[in-house]
Amino acid sequence: MTRALFEVRGLEKAFGSNVLFAGADLDVFEGETLAIIGESGSGKSIFLKMLIGLVEPDAGVILYKGRNIADFDQAALDNLHREVGYVFQNDAMFDSMTVLENVGYGLRGKSDAEVRAIAEKFIEMVGLQIADLEKFPASLSGGMRKRAALARAIAVEPEIILYDEPTQGLDPQNITRIAEMIEQLQMELKGTSVVVTHDMRTAFGVSSRIVMLYGGKFAFEGTPEQLIEAREGPIHEFIQDAREELQALFQPRESSSDDARR
Ligand SMILES: Nc1ncnc2c1ncn2[C@@H]1O[C@H](COP(=O)(O)OP(=O)(O)OP(=O)(O)O)[C@@H](O)[C@H]1O
Ligand SMILES: [Mg+2]
Repeated sequence: MTRALFEVRGLEKAFGSNVLFAGADLDVFEGETLAIIGESGSGKSIFLKMLIGLVEPDAGVILYKGRNIADFDQAALDNLHREVGYVFQNDAMFDSMTVLENVGYGLRGKSDAEVRAIAEKFIEMVGLQIADLEKFPASLSGGMRKRAALARAIAVEPEIILYDEPTQGLDPQNITRIAEMIEQLQMELKGTSVVVTHDMRTAFGVSSRIVMLYGGKFAFEGTPEQLIEAREGPIHEFIQDAREELQALFQPRESSSDDARR
């Protein structure tokens, strides 16, 4: 049995009359890449923030490794934030710092030389150049900034990475690159990933399991292959536009991913 790292039960959250979560349940299992899809404004970003204690639920529990995060003191929260990396939807880079300083931000306590070595390793892993470390975020393109933000999140080698819309606003080529990178990272770091996205190619391309946030609950759970087969209901409508593209993506993928695992 795989262990659940996060167990969410009976989650409720509303902003005034805007009810986002109405008794939602979800497990995040060790080693999986879980995609969370859902309409804009359905609460996906808020959900990630609740997982790491940045936003408080109205009701329900969130267990992290079996412990209720509502009971966490500062030390336990700090530990959670070390173990769980978070790539924010808006990249959230510090504009007054270089990429190197941004990537090194979570590495306090290490020497400059250690920080540089780690930053170089991860900046290359996300497909940027070592020279990019000296640049400021404002001088990078959107795709490069996404990658730099990713490098910062993974530089501390978190056990779990939460990605909030990692491919939003990117052109198709960069979408493919980032999606491939998430998959590659998953293989190299052997961690657990949660990918929130409304880009269906990203969701279906990288994940081992997909859930859709719908009506305040996590519904329509399944493997990408199962969800593509949905013939009715919200999940069907949601992926309708992307279906042909997804089917094309999926047919060849099974054999090629088998090859990659050998
Ligand atoms: N602090 C807040 N106060 C009031 N409403 C909020 C607050 N934060 C978020 N909301 C509302 O909660 C809803 C869900 O927001 P959230 O950012 O989680 O959506 P999302 O699913 O991530 O959307 P998108 O796909 O566009 O990123 C939105 O309607 C948003 O306006
Ligand atoms: Mg969002």
